[in-house]
Amino acid sequence: MKSSKKPSKTTKKINSAALIAAAREAAQNAYAPYSRFQVGAALLADDGRIFTGCNVENASYGLTLCAERVALFSAVAAGSRRFVALAVVAGDKTPAMPCGACRQVLAEFCDDTLPVICATMRGGKPRTTTLGRLLPAAFRFAHKKP
Ligand code: THU
Repeated sequence: MKSSKKPSKTTKKINSAALIAAAREAAQNAYAPYSRFQVGAALLADDGRIFTGCNVENASYGLTLCAERVALFSAVAAGSRRFVALAVVAGDKTPAMPCGACRQVLAEFCDDTLPVICATMRGGKPRTTTLGRLLPAAFRFAHKKP
């Protein structure tokens, strides 16, 4: 009989510390001359690759892209569409959580179970939640196949 003990790709242990470190490094590249608020994101794909992003601001403020979307779009552009976890690093006292727009964009490619690990630039205990908790009853088309 075939053993069912082997963990599936999505239940494999996530190296949160490595993901946070990648997000923290990405934050160093943030282009944030207006807010002075640097954000880094690291998205772990199911093939083990890590895609990072930082926020990129614009003089026309509304055109600013958040770190999470930069990471996600760069993953999609590289052919990755299945993700295992996201780390976001920003601020120095309390971890910043992904904004509403990023939550909706993540929901296009990620399940509600996606772990979202939020940490500060300084370290300390990260706050871990899931995409489903951050965006309950997300709008998705039922037929879509990532
Ligand atoms: N920001 C992100 O990069 N991710 C978020 O989820 C929230 C906000 C950026 C956008 C802007 O450059 C700065 O943080 C302040 O809003």
